[in-house]
Amino acid sequence: MAPAAVLRSVVLGMLVAGGAHAAPATSVGRAATAAEIAAWNIDVRADFAGLPKGAGSVAKGERVWEARCASCHGTFAESNQVFTPLVGGTTAADIASGHVASLVKGDVPQRSTIMKLAHISTLWDYINRAMPWNAPKSLTTDEVYAVTAYILNLAEIVPADYVLSDRNMAAVQQRLPNRDGLVRLDAMWQTRGKGDVRNLACMRNCAAQVQVTSFLPDSARDAHGNLAEQNRLVGQVRGTATNGTIAAAARTPALSAAPDALAQNGCTGCHAVDKRVIGPGFNEVVARYQGKADLQTYFIGKIRGGGAGAWGAVAMPPQAQIKEADVAAIAAWLAAAAR
Ligand code: HEC
Ligand code: HEC
Repeated sequence: MAPAAVLRSVVLGMLVAGGAHAAPATSVGRAATAAEIAAWNIDVRADFAGLPKGAGSVAKGERVWEARCASCHGTFAESNQVFTPLVGGTTAADIASGHVASLVKGDVPQRSTIMKLAHISTLWDYINRAMPWNAPKSLTTDEVYAVTAYILNLAEIVPADYVLSDRNMAAVQQRLPNRDGLVRLDAMWQTRGKGDVRNLACMRNCAAQVQVTSFLPDSARDAHGNLAEQNRLVGQVRGTATNGTIAAAARTPALSAAPDALAQNGCTGCHAVDKRVIGPGFNEVVARYQGKADLQTYFIGKIRGGGAGAWGAVAMPPQAQIKEADVAAIAAWLAAAAR
């Protein structure tokens, strides 16, 4: 037989053999098990259907926040570095009225999450499935309750001794500043309606370039695969290409293996060892201070207090959440390499 014919007959033989033994094509795969469905079925609805049993206090939430969230969102959820502020722009009057006045007045420079939030279940669900950005679904159910309680306390919606649970979420919903702010009369909801687009096109002194108000650290961009490929291919927002931005963890020769404290404290959200991310690469830092005196003390101060102006326009927020021993370990690691 000619080679192509041999190949054809082998392939045919395989098909016939497979066909003789395999079940009909309609039974490809199998029904998902109850456990598999439960693992995916985690959404929480506006009427709280799907909310798992659990509870968490503001105090516990503060600890979760400091360890898992503060490095990107700031100690008081006010940071504008990695994402727009989560808290701010709401008042006691808004809690009473159910409408956030600053959304209409426009007197707050940015819309914080809490200003826009109409259903507390959305906040719970989002944190439960997506945060922390660099380790989604790593919080326990009770930690999600706790950290949600902490955010609500920062926004003065619940008191400092509050314990949020599946039993009292509906009561807290009644205090959400923007609970009555959801607009349903636009084309997003009614295809026959008219969109609530009241602005006119800019005709004069228009901005040449649109500046985004927040950005994602390169090190976190890969966390969910390539967003561009996961978004629909129509419409104005296609999703940014986020794949392949993290180089394999190449180490600079001068630096020994990075201490675990870097990832544990969220430093790796903004810093890589071998290249610039939002902040300088640790290899650049070491190279700059090579041979300088008192480096250990210098680095401790910079890590704890943050800084600005040494490496560019972006500031490093103070890292108040980090433990003394971790600061010391990281500073010692950097100082040793710069000796
Ligand atoms: C590595 C950085 C990082 C860490 C750590 C992190 N976040 Fe986020 N967070 C982000 C980014 C980036 C977004 C925006 C994501 C997007 O829009 O797709 C975001 C969005 C959010 C939002 C949604 C805001 C909105 O209005 O849409 C909430 C709520 C939130 N984070 C809470 C938390 C909590 C709670 C933690 C800790 C358990 C946490 N985050 C840890 C980076 C981080
Ligand atoms: C939200 C982003 C962000 C996080 C989180 C962050 N940094 Fe930074 N870091 C920066 C930026 C931006 C700079 C540059 C600041 C400047 O130009 O002065 C910087 C600078 C530094 C420097 C150099 C200081 C100098 O004076 O040269 C060190 C060291 C450092 N960071 C360590 C850390 C450590 C350790 C952590 C974790 C505990 C951390 N950073 C967390 C953004 C961040």
